[in-house]
Amino acid sequence: MAHTSTQDAGTGVTLRGGAKLRGVSKSYGDGEASVAALDGVDLDLGAGELVVVLGPSGSGKTTLLNVLGGIEPAGGGSVEVAGVDLTGRRPRGLAGFRRDHIGFVFQFFNLVPTLTARENVEVMVELTGRGERRDAAGLLESVGLGDRLDHFPAQLSGGQQQRVAIARALATDPDLLLADEPTGALDVATGKSVLRLLQRTNREGRGVLMVTHNAAIARMAHRVVTMRDGRVESVERNAAPADVADVDW
Ligand SMILES: Nc1ncnc2c1ncn2[C@@H]1O[C@H](COP(=O)(O)OP(=O)(O)O)[C@@H](O)[C@H]1O
Ligand SMILES: [Mg+2]
Repeated sequence: MAHTSTQDAGTGVTLRGGAKLRGVSKSYGDGEASVAALDGVDLDLGAGELVVVLGPSGSGKTTLLNVLGGIEPAGGGSVEVAGVDLTGRRPRGLAGFRRDHIGFVFQFFNLVPTLTARENVEVMVELTGRGERRDAAGLLESVGLGDRLDHFPAQLSGGQQQRVAIARALATDPDLLLADEPTGALDVATGKSVLRLLQRTNREGRGVLMVTHNAAIARMAHRVVTMRDGRVESVERNAAPADVADVDW
């Protein structure tokens, strides 16, 4: 299996993820109703980077994330993610890539309401055949929910539900974790606890790409991508990303 992984010279951590997009387009609808959600996107993301994507509503952020994660194919251009060439792959061919390389975290958590926290994590292991069911409790402990294993989503706060969602995403040991406005539905303190987890998982070497409306969060990123009208408007690199504890909004 193709893999982009390099060692960080300083820490010895294996750096995972990374992406290379060239001339990527994606439109929805036909004829006059057609909307170019992505319009010639060129983008390089390094392995092991924490990337923040900013931009106004409708600028193509979610579409970019969906193309990177193999949720939907690009309409044109070339896409390589975590060392895997996705160019020209149809939806069926993307499913295996998603399973083997990508974790997703969404704004509204998307937990299964009829399953407990533990079962929400276990079901990911069962669906993908990756990871171990018995690790579900340990993953939930690692996100601070060791005492909430048998609670249902409705019995958990928003921040706790998002932490279950992060544990679920990590159950398959993804190279790249994609998070679409993961703090968008949370208050500041709760949002910070979620960001702390995302930063921690990044420091373990995983790529993390997060869409947000909150420009303050950009300080914790290695790379900040700003989208506008389906294009990459700017890319800024940050040699010294801030610790989440030092980011305020
Ligand atoms: N499934 C879809 N069907 C039709 N249009 C869509 C669909 N998804 C996104 N779009 C359109 O594509 C553009 C970019 O959307 P999106 O990527 O969701 O932007 P953002 O996440 O930055 O708000 C918008 O104009 C949006 O209306
Ligand atoms: Mg969006």
